[in-house]
Amino acid sequence: MSKTYLVTGANRGLGLEFAKQLSARGDTVIGTSRSIEKAVALRDLGSQVRVVALDVTDPASIAGLGQRVGADAIDVLINNAGVSSTSKSVGQLDAAEMQRVFMVNSVAPLLVTGALLPQLRSGRGKLIVQITSQLGSIANNTGGSTYAYRGSKAALNQMNKCLANELGPEGFRCVAVHPGWVRTDMGGPSAHLSPEESVRAMLKTIDGADARMNGAFVNYDGGVLPW
Ligand SMILES: NC(=O)c1ccc[n+]([C@@H]2O[C@H](COP(=O)([O-])OP(=O)(O)OC[C@H]3O[C@@H](n4cnc5c(N)ncnc54)[C@H](OP(=O)(O)O)[C@@H]3O)[C@@H](O)[C@H]2O)c1
Repeated sequence: MSKTYLVTGANRGLGLEFAKQLSARGDTVIGTSRSIEKAVALRDLGSQVRVVALDVTDPASIAGLGQRVGADAIDVLINNAGVSSTSKSVGQLDAAEMQRVFMVNSVAPLLVTGALLPQLRSGRGKLIVQITSQLGSIANNTGGSTYAYRGSKAALNQMNKCLANELGPEGFRCVAVHPGWVRTDMGGPSAHLSPEESVRAMLKTIDGADARMNGAFVNYDGGVLPW
């Protein structure tokens, strides 16, 4: 049976590919974009896809999301919007950049989840997916200077675990998924995977997410990643 997905940052990259594959298999997609005007490729996917404005650095934009989306149920939320950070040594860190990266990558996914709780609670899917990164793994960190990006994804992983503990008893599964290294604007042209390959594998993984996966940190192919 088809489901309704809300995907943040759906105008390009992995978010757009999620919208493509989900709409092609008959699911309904609410794709968010900072700019409705620029979300041409998303709009062109057809009637299965609705575009809704959302800037995740703006708490007022997040707070109004539930109203813009409407009261209909959402089965699956994919918190995909994200930003990378520049590589810097400790004496060069910029407070404004760090705050922006943490807002987009760590704080916003939680605020978006909170803003959509009524729609998620009335959905049948009860699945919340954080698109995280293996760079958020503390165990695997052998020397990155991308402080803000690594720190923000580690924070997202921790907060996803909190969310899993809070919402698990209601039947939700909250899963943090690393998409692999993917050829998007963020991943660059040398990355290992195409967006098509990454999203196909992530959908297989999240389609099969059962209660045991609540709170998990996994690779795109479903393999468990070290914290
Ligand atoms: N690509 C990789 O290799 C890789 C690896 C690990 C993890 N990831 C994660 O995968 C997710 C998607 O990345 P991607 O590779 O698809 O990146 P991307 O091509 O750079 O796309 C990022 C998306 O996030 C949106 N976004 C950024 N800031 C936003 C804001 N303030 N409000 C609303 N939307 C905002 C962008 O919208 P605009 O067009 O308006 O900027 C865009 O839609 C991210 O969470 C990223 O950290 C990617």
